[in-house]
Amino acid sequence: MTEIRKGLAGVVVDETAVSKVNPDTNSLLYRGYPVQELAAHCSVEEVAHLLWHGELPDARQLEALRREERSRRALPETVRRVVELLPASAHPMDVVRTAVSAIGAADPSTNASAEADLDRALTLFALLPAVVAYTQRRRRGLDLVEPRDDLDYSRNFLWMTFGEEPSDVDADAFRVSMVLYAEHSFNASTFTARVITSTLADLYSAVTGAIGALKGPLHGGANEAVMGVFEEIGSPERVEEWLDRVRAEKRKVMGFGHRVYKNGDSRVPTMKAALDTLVADRGATDVAELYDALERGMTERTGIRPNLDYPSGPAYALLGFDPAVFTPLFVASRVLGWTAHIVEQRASNALIRPLSEYVGPDERHVPSSPVE
Ligand code: COA
Repeated sequence: MTEIRKGLAGVVVDETAVSKVNPDTNSLLYRGYPVQELAAHCSVEEVAHLLWHGELPDARQLEALRREERSRRALPETVRRVVELLPASAHPMDVVRTAVSAIGAADPSTNASAEADLDRALTLFALLPAVVAYTQRRRRGLDLVEPRDDLDYSRNFLWMTFGEEPSDVDADAFRVSMVLYAEHSFNASTFTARVITSTLADLYSAVTGAIGALKGPLHGGANEAVMGVFEEIGSPERVEEWLDRVRAEKRKVMGFGHRVYKNGDSRVPTMKAALDTLVADRGATDVAELYDALERGMTERTGIRPNLDYPSGPAYALLGFDPAVFTPLFVASRVLGWTAHIVEQRASNALIRPLSEYVGPDERHVPSSPVE
């Protein structure tokens, strides 16, 4: 009998030079750099250059990337019209998925060189903040806010969402979340992007598919689901009773657990520190108390530790984002990792096509008069 590894757990399917996840040392490296150091010292633009080109940019390269990113921020008219055709109540992940598809449909080029794909990657990176920001604003009945080219990526993102220049605390917490979400090896959405690329389909198709994979609550959708958990529990005193019920119902607690990290997610302490700055800034001790009580309760009962979505969910809520927009924020960042993997896959391609063990009926034959 063939050994079947459900969910491809533990299966190594290819090599990658984009990032390394080491669950034993609880470390995550982007192109060799610890993600904690990148979050402490780098802008999102620098991390984009690192993931796409393998090295942190020098001053000239950073300036070139900044200039291009700032020049491509405004939503093209066709994309804006496509977004506006969707109901304002549509799930923001569906809007983002549709917008990327529309951006792809408007690109006539079939050039599949790494250079052309990296140029498309830059366009998506520059445009996604406008899509996400406008989606949140439409949900609130607000108009589009045009991008500003005097603000960096993180500040401009918050500007387009809220129509106000962010404080340093907000801009920094947001930047940290974008750096931490940017890449995580062969997770489900990245693998989806690589599968689609392996058929020699275009980058937009691969990113659109990846967005679909990220939507699910076992993957990116968990950051939105964490806020549902917080709302359901309501206050720290209710954590124990809530956990009893959830455990009895065998429900999973969103924001906890990880396929690779079994002793804690390496990104959590950095994001928790960013959340703490927002909590202190707002005096939101109720959020912090509920956060701590649930983490304590889960760890004591199950030993299962939080993943990145656990601190990022409440951090995005404190920044003012609607929960439904949390996973699209993840998209805006993870597009960096997806596109780095798409380029890597294309450079050393093999069609991804696994086998399956057939367990259906044995061969049988259609009767000559099937229905009397
Ligand atoms: N809440 C409760 N129990 C959990 C859990 C959670 N969040 N995560 C894992 N477990 C339990 C499972 O029920 C299972 O228990 P069992 O062996 O008694 O059946 C065991 O731990 C192993 O979990 P499993 O789902 O098989 O492991 P996995 O490696 O496939 O799971 C996740 C990884 C991410 C899918 C899982 O931890 C999960 O569903 N987490 C919640 C969603 C989430 O936060 N996703 C974002 C990931 S970054």
